Amino acid sequence: MKKLSITALIFAFCLGMVSSAFAEEEVTCFESRKGASEVVKRDLQPGWPNVKCSPKTGAVLWWGDPFDGTVPMGDTPLLTHVPPGNAVVKPRSAKLAILPLCGTACHNGVIPPTLPKDKKPKAIPTMEGLLPDAKNLQHGRGRIWCLDCHHTTQRNKLVDNFGDPLSIDQPQLLCGKCHGDKMRDWRDGIHGKRIGEWASTGKKRWFTCTECHNPHNVQDGARNRGFIQLEPELPPQLPKGMKDAKHELVHGVH
Ligand code: HEC
Ligand code: HEC
Ligand code: HEC
Repeated sequence: MKKLSITALIFAFCLGMVSSAFAEEEVTCFESRKGASEVVKRDLQPGWPNVKCSPKTGAVLWWGDPFDGTVPMGDTPLLTHVPPGNAVVKPRSAKLAILPLCGTACHNGVIPPTLPKDKKPKAIPTMEGLLPDAKNLQHGRGRIWCLDCHHTTQRNKLVDNFGDPLSIDQPQLLCGKCHGDKMRDWRDGIHGKRIGEWASTGKKRWFTCTECHNPHNVQDGARNRGFIQLEPELPPQLPKGMKDAKHELVHGVH
C-alpha cells in the first residue's frame, strides 16, 4: 500500500514537471500567411490567451482580443461608413526584418550609384538570395517589376501611381492601384478577412493584403496563386447529448 502511494507520488511529480515544461515553452502560431504573420501566445489576463493555436496546422483559431497590436488603418478611399479609428490593421513593418532598413542601409539614394532608368525586369545578383528570379518575378511574370511597387529613392516605402511614397503599413493602397476591384471588395468586407465587432459601423481589424499574399510570388509555379493548402481542422465537438449533426442536412427543407 505504502509502496503504491510512493509510486503514485513520483508519477504525479513527473507529470507536474512535464506539464510545467510544456507551459513554459513558447508557442508561436501564424494568423494568416505562414512565415509572415506569426504571433507569440501569451496571456492577456490570467487564463485569457491572446490567441488559441491549432495543434494541427499551427494557425490561429481564435483571438482573445481582435485589436491586440493594431493601429488605425489610415486613409482608405471611400471607407466612409466606418467612423475614424474603428478601422484598424496590424502594421506590416513590425513583421519585416529588412524593408524598414532598405531605405537607410543600402538604397539611400547613393547606393547603388546608378538608379535603374526604367522598370524593365532585370536580374539582381545582389538580391538573388532574398528574391530568386527577379527577372521573371512570379507576380506578373515580366509585366511588372520591383519599382512598380517600391519607391525609387525611398526604398523603405511603397509607391503610388503618381510616384509618391506609400507606407509599408498600407499595402492595400499599393495593390489597389492595379487590383482596384479586389481593393474595393476588401474595403467592403467581401474579399480577405475582418475580425472584431459585428455591427457595420463597429470597430474591426482588416487583414491587409500582404498578411495573406506574398507580393513576390503570388504566381508561384503552376499554383498561380501562391497559396498553400492547409489540411482542414477537425469538426467542432457536438453539444452534450447530440449524437451526430444529421439534423443539419434537413435544415430549411420541407
Ligand atoms: C507587386 C508589388 C511588388 C513587387 C513587384 C516587388 N515587391 Fe518587394 N515588397 C512588396 C511589398 C508590399 C512588401 C512588403 C511585404 C509585406 O508586407 O509582407 C515587399 C517587401 C520587400 C522586401 C523586404 C522583405 C523583408 O522581409 O523585409 C524586399 C527586400 C523587397 N520587397 C525587394 C523587392 C525586389 C528586389 C523586387 C524586384 C525583383 C520586388 N521587391 C518586387 C511589393 C513588391
Ligand atoms: C503594378 C501593378 C500591380 C501591383 C501594384 C500589384 N499587382 Fe498583383 N498582379 C499584377 C499583374 C499584371 C498580375 C498578373 C495577372 C495575370 O496574369 O492575369 C498580378 C497577379 C496577382 C495575383 C494572382 C492572381 C491573378 O489575378 O492572376 C494576386 C493574388 C495578386 N496579383 C495580388 C497582389 C497583391 C496582394 C498586391 C499588393 C501587394 C499586388 N498584387 C500588387 C499587377 C500588379
Ligand atoms: C485573409 C486573407 C486575404 C486577404 C487579406 C486578401 N486576400 Fe486576396 N485572396 C485570398 C484568397 C484565399 C484568394 C483566392 C485564392 C485562390 O483562388 O486560389 C485571393 C485571391 C486574390 C486575387 C486573385 C483573384 C482572382 O480572381 O483570381 C487577387 C488579385 C487578390 N486576392 C488581391 C488581393 C488584394 C489587392 C488584397 C488587399 C486589398 C487582398 N487580396 C487581401 C486571400 C486574401
